Amino acid sequence: MEYRGYDSAGIAIDGSNDIESPHSKVALLRKAGKVSVLSDFIKESADDLDMDMEYNIHCGIAHTRWATHGSPRDVNSHPHRSNDKNEFLVVHNGIITNYREIKEYLEKKGHKFESETDTEVIAKLTQHIHDRYPDFSFRQLVETVIQQLEGAFALAFKSSRFPGQLVASRRGSPLLVGIKSNSRLQTNHFPVSFSKDAGWKWGDEKQTDGRRFMSNHATHLRDESSFVETPNNILDLSIDSRDVCNLPVPVDESQRRLSAFMNSLKNAVRSSNGSAKLEISDSTTAVRPFDSADWEVEYFVASDAAAIIEHTKQVLFLEDDDVAFVEDGALTIHRISRHADNGEQKREVQLLEMELQEIMKGSYKTYMQKEIFEQPDSVVNTMRGRLLPSRQVVLGGIKEYLPDIKRCRRLIMVACGTSFHSAIACRQILEELSELPVVVELASDFLDRETPIFRDDVCLFISQSGETADTLMALRYCKPRGALTIGVTNTVGSSICRESHCGIHINAGPEIGVASTKAYTSQILSLLMFALTLSDDRISMATRREEIIDALNDLPNLIREVLKLDDKVHEIAQQIYKEKSLLIMGRGFNFATCLEGALKIKELSYMHCEGIMSGELKHGPLAMVDEFLSICMVVCNDHVYKKSLNALQQVVARKGAPIIIADNSVPEGDLAGMKHILRVPKTVDCVQNILTVIPLQLLSYHIAELNGANVDRPRNLAKSVTVE
Ligand code: M6R
Repeated sequence: MEYRGYDSAGIAIDGSNDIESPHSKVALLRKAGKVSVLSDFIKESADDLDMDMEYNIHCGIAHTRWATHGSPRDVNSHPHRSNDKNEFLVVHNGIITNYREIKEYLEKKGHKFESETDTEVIAKLTQHIHDRYPDFSFRQLVETVIQQLEGAFALAFKSSRFPGQLVASRRGSPLLVGIKSNSRLQTNHFPVSFSKDAGWKWGDEKQTDGRRFMSNHATHLRDESSFVETPNNILDLSIDSRDVCNLPVPVDESQRRLSAFMNSLKNAVRSSNGSAKLEISDSTTAVRPFDSADWEVEYFVASDAAAIIEHTKQVLFLEDDDVAFVEDGALTIHRISRHADNGEQKREVQLLEMELQEIMKGSYKTYMQKEIFEQPDSVVNTMRGRLLPSRQVVLGGIKEYLPDIKRCRRLIMVACGTSFHSAIACRQILEELSELPVVVELASDFLDRETPIFRDDVCLFISQSGETADTLMALRYCKPRGALTIGVTNTVGSSICRESHCGIHINAGPEIGVASTKAYTSQILSLLMFALTLSDDRISMATRREEIIDALNDLPNLIREVLKLDDKVHEIAQQIYKEKSLLIMGRGFNFATCLEGALKIKELSYMHCEGIMSGELKHGPLAMVDEFLSICMVVCNDHVYKKSLNALQQVVARKGAPIIIADNSVPEGDLAGMKHILRVPKTVDCVQNILTVIPLQLLSYHIAELNGANVDRPRNLAKSVTVE
């Protein structure tokens, strides 16, 4: 998982060296730095840990961190613990937005915090509830805890109090469970157990305000409410009176809410016939899903399939607020209450299609290099089974919705970063082939503006990971407004994939390097195919469609040609890698290439780089141009060719000496005097930007390498941005 976050790492495992009570102690090992630093530290700890201990059952949790709250230090690394006896430990992806309120409360209750993280409150809150309600099962504790959390999380818990058990849950951050066993699964569906079928609520509705430790800026509450149950249908809430009675008079909003929460708990007990017991539905029948009596199993809880593919391909994806519980080797899936719109009552075991070698570097130096050079194959995978020999285009994931899409009022593409650039790259061809208004939106800005959305809008959410928080939030914003939502993702089972009405998998294969490369070209390709499906019944467009389809069939070979430029690009990189700034200019279909090239250079080599629409040159940027400024220009023989040449002349007239990316149909004479010309094969205008971006991917790669930057893991960035 190092590619998801990489400034520190840690593990918690059973660490008793006593064969009589192997689970009595949990060892916690955490280190700032890469996973290799942690690995060395574990080896150094060999004196304290009996490395030869054998367990019949063992549960461990581990995490690689990308700092959000608190700098990368050992003590801020996960797992976080409830106390120095390591009674409850948790690993967390995401952000807890109301952690200050919870921390304040727990500090008043005497809990001492050791880190600056938001995550530590989760471990301490678990301990706190356990101390008050020692009869709660591990799962009940976690179910209680997650009801108090606001924000986004994927969590896995371990406890020395509950040996051999593991509890995991998610809300807003991805989480899956891999299942590995020599025995055959008896079922492909794990039933979801509901802790509270009856939709029991706290006292009256107004009290829902007290359900959580609300952060001051929280503006809404989720519908899902209620408390937890015991395994035997009866909840014995013998409330520790200290908890309620010793609560100081509320002095501020968070204390008022907390007080309401505790009082709600007290009222809940009283309202159940004064007997301090609450009837709830059954929920805990453990399923042993294997056909053999003598089964063995390993479960892998992870935030990404790539982390577990070397162990198993059988996975189930958890939904928001699911709680996965492993006990005695049996996995069960729970939810606190049945949601009104939550018809889904089982989680399907799916078979991952990716191969281990797809996520290994092979002979390449870095994942990014591998992914750039994989593009002749990844584009084939994107088109496989969709671009038919009959020159038809079939996108199975949206087929049924095509009539609705063709009738829509607007096509709105929402995305972030590189995915946003793929939308820019395809806007023009979508407008042309669909004859619909096409709007392109940055997800964060789209949400900030609370953009009006209508029932007859069709919204596409483009995201390599399918987990980008802004894009996912935008999807959740559009869906209740009645728009048809289409996910365009590279990650099967991702949140965007599951939550959209229909979708297009870009099928680029796992992308490990933080900088998106092959996913970008496959996104463009997917959107191009989408545009083609929207025009399949237009006779007037038949010729144009055929020309594009023929170009797509040639694409893998054309990409191979472009990749041969690598040495030449390397030479250019050697000449400019020390520069402070680089401008990349172009227009028309190649404007997206400029934006995407500039993003690649910024994120990998930390060099200032700007993608400029060359039509805008005379409106400002031209003032910067002189013989010292590094410039790259994309000049292709398309409908804006003359204008592109015009821009080139303006730059040259100011003694600019741009690096040129041109298609091989641009006459030599038009580029006379240019020192560096990178020629890419000529193809159809709307496909050309797939070819022009590749030299810039290579350039950003080489500049970063020459500057000694970590190409796969640029500083301050994570592959999947699951927080807003
Ligand atoms: O997974 P997504 O495509 O939704 O990610 C969006 C951006 O975070 C991502 O494209 C980012 O800009 C890349 N690291 C750029 O290479």
